[in-house]
Amino acid sequence: MKTFKIAPSVLSADYANFETELKKLEASGAEYAHLDVMDGHFVPNISFGAGVVASMRPHSKMVFDCHLMVSNPEHHIEEFARAGADIISIHVEATPHIHGALQKIRAAGVKPSVVINPGTPVEAIKNVLNLVDQVLVMTVNPGFGGQAFLPETMDKIRELVVLREVNELNFDIEVDGGIDDKTIQMAREAGANVFVAGSYVFKGDVSHQVQTLRDALDA
Ligand code: DX5
Ligand code: ZN
Repeated sequence: MKTFKIAPSVLSADYANFETELKKLEASGAEYAHLDVMDGHFVPNISFGAGVVASMRPHSKMVFDCHLMVSNPEHHIEEFARAGADIISIHVEATPHIHGALQKIRAAGVKPSVVINPGTPVEAIKNVLNLVDQVLVMTVNPGFGGQAFLPETMDKIRELVVLREVNELNFDIEVDGGIDDKTIQMAREAGANVFVAGSYVFKGDVSHQVQTLRDALDA
């Protein structure tokens, strides 16, 4: 079985204190720091870019899981690789060149991850599953933190688990959006093993919140 990883999203953190927020994440034992990059075009909201990721890098040894919610992400890959991303997630909906873009991520020495929105079928990424280390199944429509988890996305996780097995592939399955101590169990049961949580982690003491997610996974 794949190991479980918790990936708090700093989208819900204090942007004026990323250094402190990253230290809190590191102390919580979370495996990844999930960094949500939004361009105000692919999604309505604007968050932060590669410059901010580069400034965060010296303050944390955590795996930087960069989720690019930007149009034509292929234009920004080298920039995020240089900034210190360990994983780069790009949306299949954001580019006509998903295959080449994922190859570009690998060539930059970063782990490629492909993302599907709630309205996008698994079929759309079937031909690139052999190129990725991770598939991110959005469990909300991207753009904002604090939205309600969409349980209908769980069927796609089950589908991916089958495809991974049949084709002898080895990618992680990540979920993002509306994850709390209840929905994390639904995602785990469907077959996800990497869990992003933003508002749930930052609404209270970070270490305590991460621990409650961990306990829910172990329950
Ligand atoms: C949504 C982002 C998420 C977001 C999750 O567009 O990709 O990573 O931060 O936030 P919560 O956990 O609050 O739904
Ligand atoms: Zn995200």
